[in-house]
Amino acid sequence: MKGIILAGGYGTRLRPASLAVIKQLMPVYDKPMIFYPLSILMLSEIRDILIITTTESVQGFKNLLGDGRRLGLKLSYTIQKTPKGIAQALLIGRNFIKDDSVALILGDNIFYGAYLERILKEAREQVEENGGAYLFCYRVNDPTRYGIAKFDKANKLVEIVEKPDKPPSSYAITGLYFYDNYCVKAASKLKPSKRGELEITDVNNWYIENQKAEYTLLGRGYAWLDMGTFQSMLDAQNFIETIEKRQGLKIGSVEEIAYRKGFIGRSGLEYFIKLYEGSEYSEYLKGVLNDKD
Ligand code: DAU
Repeated sequence: MKGIILAGGYGTRLRPASLAVIKQLMPVYDKPMIFYPLSILMLSEIRDILIITTTESVQGFKNLLGDGRRLGLKLSYTIQKTPKGIAQALLIGRNFIKDDSVALILGDNIFYGAYLERILKEAREQVEENGGAYLFCYRVNDPTRYGIAKFDKANKLVEIVEKPDKPPSSYAITGLYFYDNYCVKAASKLKPSKRGELEITDVNNWYIENQKAEYTLLGRGYAWLDMGTFQSMLDAQNFIETIEKRQGLKIGSVEEIAYRKGFIGRSGLEYFIKLYEGSEYSEYLKGVLNDKD
C-alpha cells in the first residue's frame, strides 16, 4: 500500500502567517504539523509516500524531509497548482499509485489514542485483502463543518453528507482514507461540487453505494484534531503539550517511530540526535536510543 499526504491549500484563515509558511510546516507544539499525519502512515507501515503541496512550499518540505531515506522511507513530491478538492489528490497521484492501494491523509490531521496502531493495521489489511474503502468516524460538536455520516438502524454507513445544514448524525468522517485501486477511477468520474471542488465525500459515497465501504468508530478514548485556524492550532498544541509533558513521551515523533519500527538503526537515530543538537527534541531522541524498557 502507498501513502499520500495532501499538504496544500491557501491557508486563508491563517493569514498573514500562511503567506510566509504553509500551514502544514507550521509548528504544532514541538514539531512541524506534517509529522503528525506522516507518523500515522508510518504506524500503518506505509513507507512509499507522496507529498502533494503547492509550488511555493515544496522546497520547504524537501528541506525538512528530503527523499525520506534518513527515516527509512521513500518520499516523493508533486504539486497541486490550485486547490480543487481533496479527491484531486488521487488524480494528481495516479502515476504514483499505479496499480496499488493507497492511504490518503490530510496534512493537518492529528490522530491519537490507545491501540491506534492495531486499528490502522486492521484497516490496511481489510483493504489489501478485500478491496473497498476504509473510513474513520469521530463524534464532533459542530457537525455542520465536516463530511457527516448517516447510519441506518443497524449502524451501517449508508451515506456521507458534506457540510450538512441538518446533520444526519454527530459523526464526522476524518481525513484518513484507505482505498483500493479503484479510487483513482472513482475520482476521475467526479464533477466539481457547488463549491467547485472534487469532493472526497463523493468518492466515499461511491464506495458506500457499491457496498464496498467499511468504517471504524474512533470512540471516547481517541483524539482527532484538524487545524484550519489559529484557535484549532492552539487547541492542538495545548493537547500535545499536556500529554507529552505528563508522560515524557512524544506524539508524532517520526524519528522515534522509524527507530522503534526498525526502519532505521541506531546510527540512523544518532544522525537526528546530532542534527537537532541543542534542542529538547535531540535530548528526547537520546533517551529513545538508551531506552531499556
Ligand atoms: O478534516 C476532515 C474533513 O475534510 C472531512 O470531514 C470532509 O468530508 C472533507 O471535505 C474535508 O473538509 P474541509 O472541506 O473542511 O477540508 P479543507 O478544505 O479544510 O481541506 C482539508 C485540508 O486539505 C486543508 O489542510 C487544505 C488541504 N487541501 C484542501 C483542498 C480542498 C489541499 O491541500 N488541497 C485542496 O484542494
